[in-house]
Amino acid sequence: MSRYARLAFTAAVRAMQVEQGSRPAHRAELGAGVGLEPDPLGERERAFIAARDGCYLASVGETGWPYVQFRGGPPGFVHVLDDRTLGYADVRGNRQYITGGNLRGDPRVALFFMDYATRTRLKLFGRASVRGLDEDPRLTARLDAPRAGGRVERLVLIDVEAHDWNCPKHIPHRYSEADLARTHARLDALEAENAALRARLTARGEPPPR
Ligand SMILES: Cc1cc2nc3c(=O)[nH]c(=O)nc-3n(C[C@H](O)[C@H](O)[C@H](O)COP(=O)(O)O)c2cc1C
Repeated sequence: MSRYARLAFTAAVRAMQVEQGSRPAHRAELGAGVGLEPDPLGERERAFIAARDGCYLASVGETGWPYVQFRGGPPGFVHVLDDRTLGYADVRGNRQYITGGNLRGDPRVALFFMDYATRTRLKLFGRASVRGLDEDPRLTARLDAPRAGGRVERLVLIDVEAHDWNCPKHIPHRYSEADLARTHARLDALEAENAALRARLTARGEPPPR
């Protein structure tokens, strides 16, 4: 059993899988082991996280209610510090401090890293800890960039417990501004090339195709 299955497949979840007849499929997916050790981040997970410009971060309040917030920043703002640890600089926002307050009572978090352009999603469980900016100046400097702006108030480190990739079904295709800018640049280059080729044909007295 993977660590992911140990955390996510509770008794109630397993019972439902049995009821719905999906338990054998999941048993096969989960592989060997007992899931007591954290799942290390592999090459694919590390590269995927390093390229993301945002993630959904869920925490748990002292009332037991889950809370999810979107965290955004330039690609790479969530740093992969090693194969078990993520970190990011928490920038001052709306000053509700719901995530920060929740983490004081319960460090457990769930993250969702999405790439809508390729319809890929990585789910992750972890334990978050909050660090002051003066505790480790080198770490602060490392996590401080890349940053869109704003004022860093604290660092958040996440010890990764488990992760799993989801199937792409039902993820809508969406493109970021950066993706669209690349596509527009390519279109501009192709249009310029086309115009130059048409001009050459005209200069040779050959009518360019319509
Ligand atoms: C001035 C300002 C700057 C913000 N900058 C960011 C940001 O860089 N990244 C981000 O994910 N949210 C940003 N936000 C949005 C939210 O305020 C931010 O997610 C906030 O810290 C929410 O935390 P909480 O939901 O845990 O209380 C910003 C909001 C404001 C008002």
